[in-house]
Amino acid sequence: MSEKKTPVLEVRDLGIDFGGLTAVNDFNMDVYEEEIAGLIGPNGAGKTTVFNMLTKVYQPSRGTIHFLGQDTAKMSVVDMNRAGIARTFQNIRLFSNMSVLDNVRIGMHNKITYNELEAVFRLPKYRQQEQAVEEEAMELLKIFDLDKDASLIAGNLPYGAQRRLEIARAMATNPKLLLLDEPAAGMNPQETEDLMKMIRFVRDHFRIAVLLIEHDMRLVMGICERITVLNYGMMLAEGTPAEIQANPQVIKAYLGE
Ligand SMILES: Nc1ncnc2c1ncn2[C@@H]1O[C@H](COP(=O)(O)OP(=O)(O)O)[C@@H](O)[C@H]1O
Ligand SMILES: [Mg+2]
Repeated sequence: MSEKKTPVLEVRDLGIDFGGLTAVNDFNMDVYEEEIAGLIGPNGAGKTTVFNMLTKVYQPSRGTIHFLGQDTAKMSVVDMNRAGIARTFQNIRLFSNMSVLDNVRIGMHNKITYNELEAVFRLPKYRQQEQAVEEEAMELLKIFDLDKDASLIAGNLPYGAQRRLEIARAMATNPKLLLLDEPAAGMNPQETEDLMKMIRFVRDHFRIAVLLIEHDMRLVMGICERITVLNYGMMLAEGTPAEIQANPQVIKAYLGE
């Protein structure tokens, strides 16, 4: 379903140096509309660094990133999120003292148009919008099997549920491209299986593109339509799961370990 579609993300000759060290170099990748793409490679290969450049946590030292046809060279972290890129983090980042529902609600603040006065006096516009936000947040929680936990404190959820909540929160910003950094880390096989279904459902339901970093090969090979392999900051291979699994260089550097 990927090949003939329009790219949402076009990355050309991307690179970044930290001090004298080159962390990523000559990185090229397209992600197409409604595609699930994978980025894999050994620890320290530069995968998270690529996400940090795509979201402008780091400004690249070289190369270009076009998102929805637009050059992002001058865009900030906030600009990238507004433009439609949302992400989760390798180390979970939630508002752990807030409720599950509020974690998702916060992501939706960009949908609010009532003013302070309308809020203070709880005027109809305030009540309508708050209700709409809550309904939408509950719908997202339901997709991630968290609706029953809406009123719990996020930090008290089991690890796997926190990972799902992070994805729900990212989805609350209504992205066109969702970046997932090791979403299955710490999950058991059943949780991973459920997560795969959720990622597929989210892609189909919201018609978004997904780019995910993951070490769990069952997940990667099971849901990614195209995979890019990084090794020592350089691209080692790019192709379908079948091509990647059969690539002798990939097997030697990574899969065969
Ligand atoms: N802010 C930074 N300063 C210095 N080095 C960094 C920084 N961020 C990442 N790196 C280096 O970039 C390399 C790739 O790291 P990372 O992208 O986290 O790898 P991966 O996610 O593939 O495991 C590592 O050698 C790491 O130490
Ligand atoms: Mg990483």
